[in-house]
Order: sequence, then C-alpha cells, then structure tokens
Amino acid sequence: MTCAIDVCGVYFRYENFSMEDINMELHIGEQKAMVGLNGSGKTTLFKLLLGLLEPTSGEIHIMDRKVDREGLWEVRQNVGFLFQNPDDQLFSPTVWEDVSFGPRNLGLSEDEIEERAEWALSIVGMSDFANRPVNQMSHGQAKRVALAGVVAMRPQILLLDEPFTGLDFPMVSGIVDIIEELRGAGISVLYTTHNRFFLENWADSVLVLNNGRVVYDGPIDEALETPLVLEQIGNWNHLAQKMAASRTRVREIGFSANG
Ligand SMILES: Nc1ncnc2c1ncn2[C@@H]1O[C@H](COP(=O)(O)OP(=O)(O)OP(=O)(O)O)[C@@H](O)[C@H]1O
Ligand SMILES: [Mg+2]
Repeated sequence: MTCAIDVCGVYFRYENFSMEDINMELHIGEQKAMVGLNGSGKTTLFKLLLGLLEPTSGEIHIMDRKVDREGLWEVRQNVGFLFQNPDDQLFSPTVWEDVSFGPRNLGLSEDEIEERAEWALSIVGMSDFANRPVNQMSHGQAKRVALAGVVAMRPQILLLDEPFTGLDFPMVSGIVDIIEELRGAGISVLYTTHNRFFLENWADSVLVLNNGRVVYDGPIDEALETPLVLEQIGNWNHLAQKMAASRTRVREIGFSANG
C-alpha cells in the first residue's frame, strides 16, 4: 500500500455547485495542504472522503478500503476529521466526555480511554477544563477540545479543515509540536489553510481547488513558483505595501483632513 487516500475521477453536485473529475493521492506519511478560494469545494471534498456525501461517479479508497456503505466503518477507524467549525464537532455534555467518546467507540478498556483522553487534553493545554460544559468554551478553546477528540483516536490519517483559524500563538505553537510528532509517527495529513505561513512551512505538497476542480497538485517548492497557485494564496507583500502607503498618507494629511 502506497496511498493513504486515493481519489479517482470523482464527480459530485449540489444544486448550484459541482465537483468535477477530482483525482488526487495522499501518500503514507505525506502532509498535503489543500488550498482554494472560499466556496471552491475544500470542505465538500473532506465530506466525500469521509463518506458523509456520496459521489455521483468515481471512487475513493482510504488505506485500500473503498469508501462506500460496506467500507465506511473501517474507513472511519483510520481517519480523524477536524471540522472547520468546532461547534459542528462537540456534542457531549462535558469536555471529558467529548474527548473520551472516540476512544470509547473504538472499544478500548476504561484505563486506555482515560489515558488517551488525559494525554489528548494535555497536549492541547485543556486539562483544567475537563469537567466544564462544552457549550461554555470560547471558539479557540472549543477548537482545542475538538482537536483533542480527534488525536485521542490515534488515527492513521488526519483531515484538518482550517486547524489554525482562531487559535492563539501558544496553541499554534502546540499544534506545530503535535505535527512534528505526527510526522515522526508516519501519520498522513490533509489540511486546508488560507494562510501562506502554514502552506510554506508545513506542506510537502499542495492540492489547489478552483470552482470544484483540481487545478494543481504537486510538490510545495514547485507550487510556490507556479502563478496559478500564487493567485490562490495571494500576494500579501503587495497588500502590506498598499496598507503601509495609505497609513503614511493619512499621517501626512492628518486624521481630521475631511472634518
Ligand atoms: N449543503 C449544501 N447545499 C448546497 N450547496 C452547498 C452546501 N454546502 C456547500 N455548498 C456550496 O458548495 C460550494 C463549496 O462549498 P465548500 O464548503 O466545499 O467550500 P470551501 O472551499 O470549503 O470554502 P471555505 O474556504 O469558505 O471554507 C459553495 O458554493 C457552497 O455554497
Ligand atoms: Mg470550507
């Protein structure tokens, strides 16, 4: 087996949006970024990979198992998914119950469940919140708890939909430590980001979606020299220069120039 995920000729449509002829491979141990403008189909592709949506044609294999009705249970043992919005992910009354839900579902012993939940909460810095209701978490705290629930399953493949959005620096730095660990353990990761830093510094390779189609799939070094990819992740230097120029202009003419 060389592929953690193998997507072959997948089509899918919502009423006003379609995914067309999606092909991609995620190799074992590879960390691949998925980028694309808002509404380009990134979250939809995750839902197809998880079997939450069904392709109209084409096939998806995860660890050699076809994602269909028969294969779904096995597929979900191997895949951990961090939702874009943590509120879609947390449903137990307390943080502890939520993080231990996954390991419990795997049929592990109580000791193992406890060990995994403690470990997962500690690596996201949320041990002190174990007994708190999930609906009282701030956005960043909820995202941490959701991530703890995902890593507590110790999946072979992680699908992370904007894992860094809304997190403070210590947490981002904590996730970077987790990523190091995952890389060492040969875990395969597919993640989305709109942030150039997390594209350049983490990804081995990049998949670019545009309006439901794959327009680029290749190694990171090449991607960063490809105009099509640069278009999607934006020219931040240009934006910085523009904003600096407007700040200087306002300083020169004074804030009350219009008054
Ligand atoms: N349940 C749904 N029913 C109908 N259309 C949907 C549904 N969910 C998403 N869409 C449409 O599908 C398209 C792709 O949405 P998707 O959520 O996959 O985008 P995305 O790339 O994840 O965007 P973002 O960067 O904003 O997260 C959008 O045009 C969206 O409006
Ligand atoms: Mg999305």
